[in-house]
Amino acid sequence: MCTVITPSSEGAETAPKALRVQSTTLAIFGAGGDLTKRLVVPALYHLVQAGRLPEQFTVIGVDQHNQTTEQWRQSLTEMLQAFTLTDGIDARAWSWLTERMHYMAGDFTQFETFSHLEELLTEQRQQNKTTNVLFYLAVGERFFGPIIEHLGRAGLTQQSVGAWRRVVIEKPFGHDLSSAEALNAQILRVLSEDQIYRIDHFLGKETVQNILVLRFANGIFEPLWNRDHIDHIQITAAETIGVEGRGGFYERTGAIRDMVPNHLFQLLAMIGMEPPISFDADAVRGKKTELLQAIHPISPENAIRGQYDRGVVLGQKVQGYRHEPNVALDSRTETYVALKLGIDNWRWAGVPFYLRTGKRLSARTTEIAIQFRQAPYALFRDTPVERLPPNILTLRIQPDEGLSVSLSAKRPGSEIEIDGVALDFSYRDYFEPVATVGYETLIYDCLIGDATLFQRADTVEAAWRAVQNLLDFWARNRPDDFPNYAAGSAGPDVADRLLARDGRAWMAIRAEHPHKALRPATP
Ligand code: BG6
Repeated sequence: MCTVITPSSEGAETAPKALRVQSTTLAIFGAGGDLTKRLVVPALYHLVQAGRLPEQFTVIGVDQHNQTTEQWRQSLTEMLQAFTLTDGIDARAWSWLTERMHYMAGDFTQFETFSHLEELLTEQRQQNKTTNVLFYLAVGERFFGPIIEHLGRAGLTQQSVGAWRRVVIEKPFGHDLSSAEALNAQILRVLSEDQIYRIDHFLGKETVQNILVLRFANGIFEPLWNRDHIDHIQITAAETIGVEGRGGFYERTGAIRDMVPNHLFQLLAMIGMEPPISFDADAVRGKKTELLQAIHPISPENAIRGQYDRGVVLGQKVQGYRHEPNVALDSRTETYVALKLGIDNWRWAGVPFYLRTGKRLSARTTEIAIQFRQAPYALFRDTPVERLPPNILTLRIQPDEGLSVSLSAKRPGSEIEIDGVALDFSYRDYFEPVATVGYETLIYDCLIGDATLFQRADTVEAAWRAVQNLLDFWARNRPDDFPNYAAGSAGPDVADRLLARDGRAWMAIRAEHPHKALRPATP
């Protein structure tokens, strides 16, 4: 995350664009896969449009299928055409990129693929002076270890002055604590930690990065950001989609592994971390890791799981999870999870963090709601005011990115009557929309060597450690009430009890934010 402070919008237009990427070859393993086509290459195209890539830049796509460079470029062009919304493809930027793309067929498990790659990299170095290499592993998790070992054996991870080697690893990083530890150990035998960029794509979202700026660049929040002033925090990632043809993957994964130790914990860490001494990668990551290490082990009574049945989502009838392709008819895999977490440190002791995520819910929304403690009621004792609405700061991560603060205001009139109102900020009202697939910043940061938005080995392990006892308990105690929520609902009813027993309620799940105070439902 490159930090530039622009004092005014006028300054933004005249500020020179920082071109900090050195001459590089990007080698993508999984060149024919969905991730490359939908995210990595479109993000590169946007970086070209923004003038962020250097003249000496090459892409080598590696995959198992036999195809020519021309065929590969053609398949990427078709994909880009399908996803480019209004204005069509910017031909200049696209041909700038495709001219630099080369395809190489090869089996990721065979050493000869890597010696062939070595020859291509040498060729590029001689022709285009691209001495640095970024290896991007856009492949299934079973290939992470073998590819890195082969890269090491072929001498491709060896760095020298003016020639760095970095490796990007996609999610999932392990499926529990021991597999994550084993994978870290395996790759750290070949690479040093500062060569590894473990992606969590939530950190590519503007609004997630903005949490740090909101907290630490505004003096008004930090004094209130603790157990003295905050009643509780809710983090919601609600999706309307089902498993989208990924039944086989999802059966092995489930909602908790798919979303919690990675995406939701990244949001939690941004919200809960102590102020770092700088925006330096290790300063930020160290504070985030400490926060994750302070999560109390989650006891089963503080965790709810659910699975969707058939129902109606956004006006469309949809089938239940058990009828999705490649899903067992008696599957016990959870598609919904809700947790109550405690953080064991001075700032957060006693403040519950409620997290929930689920598929096929009523609306798509990712948001964080910070509910402040109630104002003392004494002043209003002799007035008709029955209940003071709480102050809630809501950070809307997606869609409709922005934030709002709900406040109490007096209704006009001779009586003291109080109503909730909202101060609202929407990104779209202040900033021009930027074409993004959410990977631009992440790829750019790998290219300039800024690891702030990437997970360190100890961060990943702290996250798995926090959920491990729950994973073990759930594996031993299979649910007997699945499916337990209708597609298109807010999730299983039992999840409401998690908060109701504390005298609280979940925020309503809604996609578009009404310009009105948010209020939790009355428990
Ligand atoms: C992925 C999960 O990592 O994140 C998916 O595997 C999920 O199941 C997705 O749908 C959510 O990300 P986003 O950016 O669409 O909110």
